[in-house]
Amino acid sequence: MSDAALSGTVHVDLGARAYDVRIGAGLLAGAGAEIAPLLGSRKRVVVVSDETVAAAHLPALKAGLAAEGIACEALSLTPGEATKCWRELEHVTEWLLAQKVERRDVVVALGGGVIGDLVGFAAAILRRGVRFVQIPTSLLAQVDSSVGGKTGINSPAGKNLIGAFHQPSLVLADIDVLATLAPRDFLAGYGEVVKYGLLGDATFFHWLEDNAAGLVARNPQVLAHAVTRSVEMKAEIVVRDETEQGDRALLNLGHTFCHALEAATGYSDRLLHGEGVAIGCALAFELSARLGLCPQEDPSRLRAHLAQMGMKRDLSDIPGDLPSAEALFDLMGQDKKVLDGAIRFILARGIGQAFVTADVPREAVLDVLRDGLAAR
Ligand code: GLY
Repeated sequence: MSDAALSGTVHVDLGARAYDVRIGAGLLAGAGAEIAPLLGSRKRVVVVSDETVAAAHLPALKAGLAAEGIACEALSLTPGEATKCWRELEHVTEWLLAQKVERRDVVVALGGGVIGDLVGFAAAILRRGVRFVQIPTSLLAQVDSSVGGKTGINSPAGKNLIGAFHQPSLVLADIDVLATLAPRDFLAGYGEVVKYGLLGDATFFHWLEDNAAGLVARNPQVLAHAVTRSVEMKAEIVVRDETEQGDRALLNLGHTFCHALEAATGYSDRLLHGEGVAIGCALAFELSARLGLCPQEDPSRLRAHLAQMGMKRDLSDIPGDLPSAEALFDLMGQDKKVLDGAIRFILARGIGQAFVTADVPREAVLDVLRDGLAAR
């Protein structure tokens, strides 16, 4: 298999803020050549990563930069969601200032969603905005968080409540790094991949069903296509609605249920975000079917695909106790996507046909949750 078969570019066409997402094998080794055109006379970048990712991938990135004569200073943070906080934001921005990063310099975020969100936000506020490059190393970051310019940190009041839209100047999604992910992290990221088929592309969902074995085996060619199609879909939606005034909310399919489940499980490793998205998508389709919006067989078809992938798909797959249906519904009401007090749901008229609505009877949601909890 040639490397050419494994590489592609998705252009995110945002006018003055447009950028490319390169997807392919060997992109860490080729990072110098990709980043060089962004640099001025100063051939230097600063890289922020986490300790786990840095141990696995920083040497390859440094070698790729050095091959083009680009010097690099690196900072490694503690891995984990707790790093997306005010204290680490201060740490990163003060370190960037100590490195004398100027408006014309480029900051590189090497890591998963936590690093991309935190470093992107630091780049957004440093000197009122410096350019940054995303090098996402998790499947979730490659298909979702590295593209579209949402950056930020968590507050004690909730996840992602402090942040800014700040588009990267380039995204390098190296398919090779996906081979190093722990199986559970890889599958959690897949929750976001399947979401794209469900929300807007039935043909892609069918392709995912047909290629489940290749996806589980992490066949590079299969992964390259899955990541590319996901990024294409995300780019199309972000170009239509960069700051989430409308269509971008479709990307939240499964997330209203997911955020309630994450809150109920204390944002712990009882439930990873992508696992919650997969279960949330199954619940959103169950709700859509019960409201007569989508074919009755769609929820079971989705669950069957998640089972093919060896993924969590029901409330009964979450270990430990869960609160009542009413308490989960209340947690859904604390989601960021609540508008004028009404919870906005992403429902579907079928696989590939999601839409946004606030017109969902509370009792219908409670019934879906009650039945899911009773099956535990
Ligand atoms: N992750 C959802 C969005 O980027 O809008």
